[in-house]
Amino acid sequence: MRPEIAEAVALLKGGELVAFPTETVYGLGADAANPAAVAKIFAAKGRPADHPLIVHLASATHMAHMTHWAREIPAEAEKLAAAFWPGPLTLILKRQAYVPDAVTGGQDTVGLRVPNHPLALELLAAFAGANGSGVAAPSANRFGRISPTTAAHVREELGERVPLILDGGACPVGIESTILDLSRGRPVLLRPGAIGAADIARVIGQVPEMAALRGEGGETPRGDEKETPRGEGETPRVSGSLEAHYAPRTPLQLVSSDGLLFALRDALVAGERVAVLAPTAQAISHDLVSWRQVPADPAGCAHDLYAGLRALDALGCVRILVQKPPAGEAWLAVNDRLQRAAAGSGEDDET
Ligand code: TXA
Ligand code: MG
Repeated sequence: MRPEIAEAVALLKGGELVAFPTETVYGLGADAANPAAVAKIFAAKGRPADHPLIVHLASATHMAHMTHWAREIPAEAEKLAAAFWPGPLTLILKRQAYVPDAVTGGQDTVGLRVPNHPLALELLAAFAGANGSGVAAPSANRFGRISPTTAAHVREELGERVPLILDGGACPVGIESTILDLSRGRPVLLRPGAIGAADIARVIGQVPEMAALRGEGGETPRGDEKETPRGEGETPRVSGSLEAHYAPRTPLQLVSSDGLLFALRDALVAGERVAVLAPTAQAISHDLVSWRQVPADPAGCAHDLYAGLRALDALGCVRILVQKPPAGEAWLAVNDRLQRAAAGSGEDDET
């Protein structure tokens, strides 16, 4: 076993935290069977303790481990796991009674996924080899901030709070996994991601309901967080559906391509420094304008999105102007993150 992986497994087994890359974003991992270790995740992130975590499983053992963590597993779960694991899909299932409340936020369900990243899979396989049953890991950012997609981002966010950060380079997907709830007797999409509703429907022959899009499934608001409207009778579930998530510190404004030029003109007239994230090449060359071009396709844009927002956020501009991507299924996950980033940063201009 490579020394770095052996060190990571020893830390996890010793109840410590290890940050590791996945194909989506970096995770902040702890032994999911050890409540004291899981508590350290919440302390490091500054995250309220009743927010549930995803348990990450090793690829080769995921079928056996699914039954270790979950009960009453529907046939859809097995089909989806076979089709998409390892990959960016989290399944919410009814939990086994002994799953620590620290992992589930006290709910009767547990989130499971097998990440598709060589370093994550190496770590999870080695952890399983050391009798570990799963690694609980949220995104490795401070609560409410932009998820990290490089090891350097994790260091910026958590620094000394995490004893080891495994560096696997930039995350290929770049936004968090799709979350599908299979615990309610019908499939419900709680968070859109790289695996879309149509991909899921192809495997299970049923289009999932879109809880996330109706604003359902948000969490209990705390402190200065904003509440996402919830459907009647829905329990709080996904912190990813809290509006103020994925937020840069700089106010972020979503604008159309025409709106972008107007907003830029206004900023320059006012002598304000502005940052721009757009799929087009820099339209205006000016000292006050910092321009970052993102790919014009959904996967490319998702890949660069958080790194781009993070870099622009660090410039200390008055605002970040983001050119709104097209509407439609292919852009659902990116638009979801951008809308939350705009809401969390306090501004959302519909120009
Ligand atoms: O791509 C990802 O999913 C990344 C990587 C590290 O795997 N993880 C991630 O974790 O995004 P986190 O904690 O930042 O977001 C996971 C979301 C949370 O919003 C949490 O509320 C939700 O999953 N979740 C976890 N367990 C759940 C459960 N039992 N029921 C409903 N939602 C759950
Ligand atoms: Mg997160």
